[in-house]
Amino acid sequence: HKNLKPFPQTFLWGASTSAYQVEGANLIDGKGPSCQDVKQVPEGTSDLTVCADHYHRYKEDIALMAEMGFKAYRFSISWSRILPEGTGDVNPKGIEFYNNLINECLSHNIQPIITMFHFDMPAKLDERGSWSNRESVDWFVNFARILFENYGDRVKYWLTINEQNVLTLSGPVIGTLHIPEGCTNELKEIYQQNHHMLVAQAKAMALCHELLPDAKIGPAPNISLVYPASCKPEDVQAAQNFNALRNWLYLDMSVYGVYNNLVWAYLEEHDACPEFMPGDEEALKSGHPDFIGFNYYNTATVAASDGTEISDVHADQQNAQGIAGLYRAFRNPNLPKTEFGWEIDPMGFRATIREMYSRYRLPMIVTENGLGAYDKLTEDGKVHDSYRIKYLRDHIEQVQLAITDGCEMLGYCPWSALDLISTHEGMVKRYGFIYVDRDEFDLKTLDRYRKDSFYWYKKVIASNGSDL
Ligand code: BG6
Repeated sequence: HKNLKPFPQTFLWGASTSAYQVEGANLIDGKGPSCQDVKQVPEGTSDLTVCADHYHRYKEDIALMAEMGFKAYRFSISWSRILPEGTGDVNPKGIEFYNNLINECLSHNIQPIITMFHFDMPAKLDERGSWSNRESVDWFVNFARILFENYGDRVKYWLTINEQNVLTLSGPVIGTLHIPEGCTNELKEIYQQNHHMLVAQAKAMALCHELLPDAKIGPAPNISLVYPASCKPEDVQAAQNFNALRNWLYLDMSVYGVYNNLVWAYLEEHDACPEFMPGDEEALKSGHPDFIGFNYYNTATVAASDGTEISDVHADQQNAQGIAGLYRAFRNPNLPKTEFGWEIDPMGFRATIREMYSRYRLPMIVTENGLGAYDKLTEDGKVHDSYRIKYLRDHIEQVQLAITDGCEMLGYCPWSALDLISTHEGMVKRYGFIYVDRDEFDLKTLDRYRKDSFYWYKKVIASNGSDL
């Protein structure tokens, strides 16, 4: 490309983590359990008592991020560390921990980008039905208010709910979303819970604008463009269906405050439309995000439904299930895969960004992107992760092409700053720039090592993306 536009000078280079996957210390200093602490740990994977021990080693970790030149660090706040029961009494030690974390970032000129909810509903609220309980809207807004009041003087970037679309489409895999016993219309139940999250999010965004006029807030869904398996009109239509259900539902609602019409029609067809409470319609329209945060790992490909849920995609791939009557998941034969079976599609990243920008015209922050692999620590303390460098380089290149296309990009925070516990494949599935010395069950030294990608990313940031 002859006339590449440069990354903006203010571009937020950084990386991401989430509280329950990185902190450890999951039941100390007053923290209440979250749904992640009480769910059954997937077979063969570690529990969450230690993770990367970020809770105790955050200073060292942030110093390493500063060494890489980070401009931003995206992390989440554990709801049950702030409010052990989800509502009611605040845990002063929890408030203090995130004060320290935020101050540590700022002392290195790193902007904290805070995710308010990343898969970790307080266990006490889980017992009360989690998002199926209409009160969840108020629980979340109360939690949001506490965060804004305590941290809003220093935190300029906020994200509401991480990957709400993944929760809705595959909640049981993540260990969240309950189907109450005796439920006769599961689809309706799921989209009712989804509706509660949407209302909660909109109210939190409005509250943020009211309390913190200088702050910026946005959603953080996982957005991947859906391709048709062929140019058959039936396949193209299936791709439209899944794009609406997987992607646009969440952004149409966050940005415009309306339900995507294709999704609404599908829910109507199955008697599954969510019930609105008085005031919901206005609340949904009052959100107005300042930017779109989104996670991107790979695109999805679908074919016309053959009336079953069978797909030819392995269960380890995101977007694995088909939905009878809507689409059939399809393995894209043109794309290579990671060691964990996830397709790799850098060009799809640019296509996803273009599509989002033409639909919503809002600036965007990449809140996750990355490659999970079995990294090896060599005897001399190195990790030669050239595969990760390649993945990230290929994706950053596409961000710059998207900028050249005229899309507004504010930052890039891949997954993950340091190694942490994956959602369901344990510690051995590593994503970090910083290697954490522990195995699945053997905690070893927990020492930090700089991977090859660490030095590479440092150079990328120092050159503001011109030296890839
Ligand atoms: C995203 C989540 O879905 O992908 C993260 O927001 C997660 O929490 C990441 O860790 C990678 O997925 P996984 O399943 O490999 O951990």
